[in-house]
Amino acid sequence: MRNFKSVLGAATVAALLLGTTSASAGIVGSKHDLSGGGAGGGNNDARICVYCHTPHAANTDMIGAPLWNKPIPDAGAFTMYGKTLAGTETADTPSMVSLACLSCHDGVSAVNSVVNAPGTGGVLGGNVGTLITGGRTGSLSGLYNIANDAGKLQNDHPISIDYIPGRASLVPLDTPLPGVGWGSYTTVGSLLRDGKVECGTCHDPHSTENVAAGDGTRNPTFLRNTNTGSALCLTCHAK
Ligand code: HEC
Ligand code: HEC
Ligand code: HEC
Ligand code: HEC
Repeated sequence: MRNFKSVLGAATVAALLLGTTSASAGIVGSKHDLSGGGAGGGNNDARICVYCHTPHAANTDMIGAPLWNKPIPDAGAFTMYGKTLAGTETADTPSMVSLACLSCHDGVSAVNSVVNAPGTGGVLGGNVGTLITGGRTGSLSGLYNIANDAGKLQNDHPISIDYIPGRASLVPLDTPLPGVGWGSYTTVGSLLRDGKVECGTCHDPHSTENVAAGDGTRNPTFLRNTNTGSALCLTCHAK
């Protein structure tokens, strides 16, 4: 009985340290946790958010993600998916919100390149490209390199593309999202950004708990919801 109690106590303390219980399925310890404790690589500075956000002197050119702490890749460097079978064209360049992801997943940009490195000092607006020292360095490779170095997005699900119900068997925008675990998202339309499918439509960079599983685990590969039985694909495509 006593042992059971102390185990409970330790679990409560761990939950408090991590914030809420859902945080244990969040970014902490995920592949986007580039601090020493995460699966993504070690950082002597032991901060997590700094690789993407800064509380001060953020990159105000980034209108797709808040308090952005990274240089933005050249939008013109990407070759888009182009025209789909149904005749829908992707935008000429990736939208800002997807450029946020591509600022690491382009296979070129350094993961540790930021606008405002941790610590005091520096020159306002003059630190673009500063490297976080002692942490994860270099660019992403393999399947993590979504744009294949040369900016190619043709072999990826189209992004920065309008969602036009009926095309590609797409369900109506007001279709309620199936199952549980979507957080504040309610309809298929609410997953879109300016009416378009972007990286953040399918993925949550902070990682989402697999609520349906009920065991505190994450949806794999930062997906917004489970893709078991291709559930995520079937959320939009009535195939
Ligand atoms: C790997 C990059 C990355 C890391 C690390 C990261 N974020 Fe984010 N964050 C993003 C992106 C990209 C968006 C915009 C997402 C979107 O629009 O769907 C965002 C959006 C947000 C938002 C606004 C959206 C919302 O949820 O209301 C908050 C708040 C936020 N992040 C907080 C944090 C905090 C706190 C940390 C550290 C514990 C963190 N983020 C770490 C990439 C990151
Ligand atoms: C600060 C750099 C950075 C940004 C910005 C970033 N990522 Fe990542 N991402 C990483 C790293 C590092 C990994 C792990 C690579 C490794 O393990 O070698 C990763 C892994 C992933 C994975 C694979 C996870 C797995 O389980 O295999 C997905 C999916 C992903 N990122 C999606 C995104 C999306 C979507 C965005 C934008 C919303 C984004 N990332 C923004 C650095 C970043
Ligand atoms: C239509 C939904 C959708 C969109 C849009 C999307 N992804 Fe994914 N992504 C997925 C799914 C599903 C997986 C898991 C694939 C698997 O398990 O093999 C995945 C996997 C990944 C991985 C892990 C490597 C891999 O191939 O398994 C990375 C990194 C990634 N996505 C990044 C991105 C980035 C960056 C964007 C925007 C440029 C993006 N994704 C847009 C659905 C999407
Ligand atoms: C948020 C909604 C959404 C989700 C989720 C989604 N898609 Fe799509 N998908 C789209 C849109 C929008 C298009 C463009 C349709 C058009 O041609 O107008 C599209 C197009 C496609 C196409 C056709 C491309 C072409 O060239 O004609 C395929 C194949 C496809 N998606 C497969 C998938 C798969 C597989 C998944 C799950 C990993 C998935 N989609 C998840 C919205 C989504």
